[in-house]
Amino acid sequence: NQDLVIAIDGPSASGKGTVAQLVAERLGFAYLDSGALYRLTALAALQQGVAWTDEVAVAQVATELDVAFVGERILLASADVALAIRAEEIGSGASQVAALPMVRAALLQRQREFLTAQGLVADGRDMGSVVFPSAKLKVFLSASAQVRAERRYKQLIGRGEEADLALITADLQSRDDRDRQRAVAPLAQSADAFLLETSNMNVETAVAQILDWWQLKR
Ligand code: C5P
Repeated sequence: NQDLVIAIDGPSASGKGTVAQLVAERLGFAYLDSGALYRLTALAALQQGVAWTDEVAVAQVATELDVAFVGERILLASADVALAIRAEEIGSGASQVAALPMVRAALLQRQREFLTAQGLVADGRDMGSVVFPSAKLKVFLSASAQVRAERRYKQLIGRGEEADLALITADLQSRDDRDRQRAVAPLAQSADAFLLETSNMNVETAVAQILDWWQLKR
């Protein structure tokens, strides 16, 4: 029963994560960062010397992922990798392994297990289309490529990392192209999703809009 599921999909750096987490907090719902599972799969494969293109082997890695989400910490085989999986290289690896059907299949049930009786806000690319097709509320969060690149740039600078706006723009572009063009579960707005265009919207306004839609739905 997906009556207590809010599915939030959208391209990279659209602000999904921040918005989804706040909505979950306000409603007292659990939160699923599905992108983290693809990032964890890419990181675990790298650690095990498995090539991101080896579908069978990467799917095996995904099936065996030993992961725990504990507050802000993300434990992979007991080591906190919350920061490590945010590296741009791992984001790129995540979008490569995410294009492999066997990997997506291996992670499907694991994602559904995040649904609890209290409700769930799930963010990703195929939350409303594949993982929670009967979600009560589906939102497609978008923002212009330029705004998204600037957001990612500020995020990296804020973490004290080096960042190059032109490189980030190119990287987001290639990741989005891959996410939109892949054969399985491509990134796309489903017909029953509400579009939230956030280029000129702050986080608080986006959260308030989703909470309004949720009130209307229930
Ligand atoms: O959302 P995030 O940028 O952390 O996701 C990393 C990558 O994982 C995305 O670029 C996308 O290729 C993949 N992904 C996916 N399906 C999801 C979530 C993420 O294919 N539901």
